[in-house]
Amino acid sequence: MKIAVIGTGYVGLVTGVSLSEIGHDVVCIDVNKEKVAKMQKGISPIYEPGLSELMTKNIAAQRLSFTSDHRKGLQQADVIYIAVGTPENADGSAELSFVVQAAENIVDCIEKDVIVVTKSTVPVGTNDMIKGIIQSQLTSDLKVEVVSNPEFLKEGSAIHDSFHGDRIVIGADSEHAFNVIEKINQPFNVPIFKTDIKSAEMIKYASNAFLATKISFINEISNICELLGANIENVSTGMGLDQRIGSQFLKAGIGYGGSCFPKDTKALIQIAGNVAYEFELLKGVVNVNKKQQGLIIRKLNDCLPNLTGKKIAVLGLAFKPNTDDLRESASILVTDELIKQGAEVVAYDPIAMDNAKNVLNSSVRYADSIAEAIENSDAALILTDWDEIKNVELSVFNKMKTPLVIDGRNCFLVKDMETHGIEYRSIGRPVAAKQIEVTPI
Ligand code: UGA
Repeated sequence: MKIAVIGTGYVGLVTGVSLSEIGHDVVCIDVNKEKVAKMQKGISPIYEPGLSELMTKNIAAQRLSFTSDHRKGLQQADVIYIAVGTPENADGSAELSFVVQAAENIVDCIEKDVIVVTKSTVPVGTNDMIKGIIQSQLTSDLKVEVVSNPEFLKEGSAIHDSFHGDRIVIGADSEHAFNVIEKINQPFNVPIFKTDIKSAEMIKYASNAFLATKISFINEISNICELLGANIENVSTGMGLDQRIGSQFLKAGIGYGGSCFPKDTKALIQIAGNVAYEFELLKGVVNVNKKQQGLIIRKLNDCLPNLTGKKIAVLGLAFKPNTDDLRESASILVTDELIKQGAEVVAYDPIAMDNAKNVLNSSVRYADSIAEAIENSDAALILTDWDEIKNVELSVFNKMKTPLVIDGRNCFLVKDMETHGIEYRSIGRPVAAKQIEVTPI
């Protein structure tokens, strides 16, 4: 069985590498020649724990290769995965031109019957569209089937998730397609759920929208906790013990970011709107998230109303730990606002600083360590809960001009910060450690 993967972004590359790791013969195709040249040498274009190691291993075993030549990659393939980007249009809908391009490449290059598997996150009905493009343009009598096989990997743990996922969803409309794709995925040893194509497409959006809803819900509860003097960590723990609710994605903070939740929630609002349905709940989720990303600045301004000439350290720039991705990260909005208010911003992130230099306001300065970033600063803002930040020796904050820490990710216990004489503001927790604090879930 020969597999081709079109697109080597985060989804395509992890998919291709994981499929080669379970023994398949995989070629990954990307138009970017420079990127292909690096990947051929086992160099991963993204920071993803464990990815480079698996690339090197499977290239050496001759199960994994990379090319920028579509014909070379596609002509002998039995199964072709489409894993190109579906960025956001100005109105929030998914931009499908890369998907259309991939379908046209398939028409031009295939020489055998194939199954086309869509991994990209695409609106309900897109697989029908792909099938339509291919069937209307194909001049030979080759048989092409389409399958929806959405991905549920999290950045930062994508390799682990590939082998320990909760489910693999296969949406198809023929026994043959179900059987082939099920067989390919069997070595992952992850439960397989088979369904129709449109439902598979919807499962992806509905799952991301539901998780985003959990986050916005807990963030609103945390804001109310602050007003009432309750502690969000205790509330989340107590709620999560109910198995119907579940303990995951109940961590309050400064909102969700990344390449998926912000884009997919807006796209689902559009998808619903296209069939004249107003998804009111999801609109609320998006609005709450927008507000929540600015919360840390409001908390800072409560302590320091005038930021002109103040040195503010920003710790953590990636949208979450274990990734160098800054897409839709709160750090973009926060650093812009600090600079707008006249602050001098010094930032530190264990992994994402190279990317940050291309994304954040050019006035942001970068430090080589937490200690260097906070030295002589008037306040430190924590935006990402990296282990390095959570495990820092608290005495380091004594290097600040005034030890004021505003923590958007609840990295520390209030009582520990109090013991170290640090003025500490966090999310959904009392300012002083009057209550019993439980270990966060
Ligand atoms: C998300 C989904 O979790 C994956 O299942 C999905 O495959 C992926 O999108 C995708 O569609 O490609 P990802 O964006 O990598 O994965 O990151 P998450 O771990 O879900 O975190 C998203 C954001 O939510 C981060 O900013 C994180 O800090 C925030 N978050 C997460 C919270 O604020 N609280 C939580 O309890 C959990």
